[in-house]
Amino acid sequence: MDHPQCHSLPQDLSDSLKEATMEVHTQAENAEFMRNFQKGQVTRKGFKLVMASLYHVYVALEEEIERNKDDPVFAPLYFPEELHRRAALEQDMAFWYGPRWQEAVPYTAATHRYVDRLQQVGRREPELLVAHAYTRYLGDLSGGQILKKIVQKALDLPSSGEGLAFFTFPNIASANKFKQLYRSRMNTLEMTPEVRQKVIEEAKTAFLLNIQLFEELQELLTQDPEDQRPSQTAGLHPHASSQVQGEDLLAAPYPVTVTVAVALYGMPTSLPLVLATPSP
Ligand code: HEM
Repeated sequence: MDHPQCHSLPQDLSDSLKEATMEVHTQAENAEFMRNFQKGQVTRKGFKLVMASLYHVYVALEEEIERNKDDPVFAPLYFPEELHRRAALEQDMAFWYGPRWQEAVPYTAATHRYVDRLQQVGRREPELLVAHAYTRYLGDLSGGQILKKIVQKALDLPSSGEGLAFFTFPNIASANKFKQLYRSRMNTLEMTPEVRQKVIEEAKTAFLLNIQLFEELQELLTQDPEDQRPSQTAGLHPHASSQVQGEDLLAAPYPVTVTVAVALYGMPTSLPLVLATPSP
């Protein structure tokens, strides 16, 4: 341990975060999508969907990190060479969605909510960005490595790692040592007790946003029996106007845009949903 516990001092932020998110971590592991994943029950469709969501999430997260890289509330955690996933996810998107992936990658409602929150934090409350970076990057360096092996086997993917660049951190020799370094940097951040409490709450929110994403993806998969055209598929729309064919859920002949109100963090947020209606 870098920081032996001292009874008269407050706990290190890294320990507080781990402790405070233990329950939501268990909840995340037990989300149906994740439970199936751990059993090797992951389909190409499901995997493509979750990777597409992660693509949008990391674009937003890393844009906000770049915005705040010189701000002392985040600067000690700026490790673009080691951690940043956008370039890796772009490679994965090309593998899974083809050369015109930018038009084909779905952008679901729960992904939207997660991106909105990241942007809000990065722009208005950058002192909370640590919570989001912690939740994703330390997760990727922990359970993410287990998930990589599972998916490689389940989907019979090439050992070259194609389609799984997201899970590979070429500039990190030891995930455990890097996590230690990251924790020690988190512990150097200066913050008032009030901000510290908000950071802890934000980390729980970050986990919940991930859980909501899994729940939505599971719902979309359940609604889409393999060989049947879905009669109603909510929550998905391609990033641009072109439609995705074949196995994808997005083959919506007549997209209709509706607006639903979703209460998140006590504030109503309007989100566009695209409902696919059946062919007449
Ligand atoms: C099937 C799903 C998952 C499995 C099997 C899994 C497994 C693990 C394992 C084994 C660790 C290491 C614990 C340790 O070193 O003490 C870990 C840590 C972590 N996981 Fe997960 N995890 C899963 C899902 C998630 C999700 C969805 C998130 C958040 C998006 C997440 C975020 C984290 C974080 C932030 C840590 C670091 C905790 C810390 O050391 O402070 N995990 N996970």
